[in-house]
Amino acid sequence: MTISVAVSGASGYAGGEVLRILANHPEVSIGAITAHSSAGTLLGAAQPHLLSLADREITDTTVENLAGHDVVFLALPHGASAEIAAQLDPGVLVIDAGADHRLSDPAAWEKFYGSAHAGTWPYGLPELPGQREALRGARRIAVPGCYPTSSLLALTPGFAAGLLEPDDVVIVSASGTSGAGKAAKAHLLGSEVMGGMSPYGVGGGHRHTPEIEQGLSDAAGEQVSVSFTPTLAPMPRGILTTATAKVRPGTDAAALRAAWEQAYAGEHFVRLLPEGQWPATKMVVGSNYAALQLAFDAHANRVIVSCVIDNLAKGTAGGAVQSMNIALGLEETAGLTTLGVAP
Ligand SMILES: NC(=O)c1ccc[n+]([C@@H]2O[C@H](COP(=O)([O-])OP(=O)(O)OC[C@H]3O[C@@H](n4cnc5c(N)ncnc54)[C@H](OP(=O)(O)O)[C@@H]3O)[C@@H](O)[C@H]2O)c1
Repeated sequence: MTISVAVSGASGYAGGEVLRILANHPEVSIGAITAHSSAGTLLGAAQPHLLSLADREITDTTVENLAGHDVVFLALPHGASAEIAAQLDPGVLVIDAGADHRLSDPAAWEKFYGSAHAGTWPYGLPELPGQREALRGARRIAVPGCYPTSSLLALTPGFAAGLLEPDDVVIVSASGTSGAGKAAKAHLLGSEVMGGMSPYGVGGGHRHTPEIEQGLSDAAGEQVSVSFTPTLAPMPRGILTTATAKVRPGTDAAALRAAWEQAYAGEHFVRLLPEGQWPATKMVVGSNYAALQLAFDAHANRVIVSCVIDNLAKGTAGGAVQSMNIALGLEETAGLTTLGVAP
């Protein structure tokens, strides 16, 4: 049986990547393609790389247009997705790439997003402990943020194994500019971004901080506090996250490596690289693959983990399709690739 899918936010970066992946999915037929200001135009104008869908008309993102499908992907600004999701049939699988349903603590949501909390859905990062089981049969899925995906993949094995101190975690991530969406913004102009890098959201203010803390605290079984600093890198796609934490007394390099090896031994889309090989963003562009490496810095008594993902693939659309596959009982890898497009 073919699964009918509607994709909202189709003119944007995340929605476009969902469509690129679904266009090659063996069990899916793409129904409504919706957006906002570009409604009434052909998809090929906004997404000329999606040739097989270029002649499809973009319609308005309304409950009526999204109804009648087995699966609805929401790739909208946060706030817009909660409003639409609340009106969709509870039997339909709704997969939200936005932030609205990721946080379990209403106070954290209100502090970082400044609006009423819309509720908490199963979290679409199946490689975290217990998450794959939570996604099976789910009808609502919150896709993680792109920085949280790379940060949680980087540090969860150490917290789940009880090897890391919870109060001295530092994460610095570099992201390509597509992470900020397609809408025109002066600080994202080529002349501002090319040839240099800059930090933003410094000092604990970035909205992904509570999401990272939530995931690491769940893995640790105690409150983990995180200092997170994102930076903007002159590339269209990709995230390089470098995460460090103090290790508990008695933890050595072998124990650390064993924890990460065990956590990802059976995972198709997450790979701990051979010792000595460090991840680079070009390894994963266009693929649903996350590559990691770790080192024990004995001098500072810290573990250092680097993780790369494609923010639009494993960091959004790929993770969303992987979660859909699990929820519907399909092959988890259907429609997804681990092959990148380097150089
Ligand atoms: N970019 C990433 O790497 C990434 C990673 C993880 C999660 N996400 C999340 O994915 C969502 C989409 O991000 P994006 O980067 O794809 O943004 P984007 O490129 O700016 O695209 C936004 C999309 O939403 C539509 N839209 C805007 N306002 C709307 C409204 N009021 N009602 C309905 N549709 C509306 C736009 O339609 P028109 O163009 O027709 O106006 C466009 O299709 C966000 O919640 C974002 O946080 C993005």
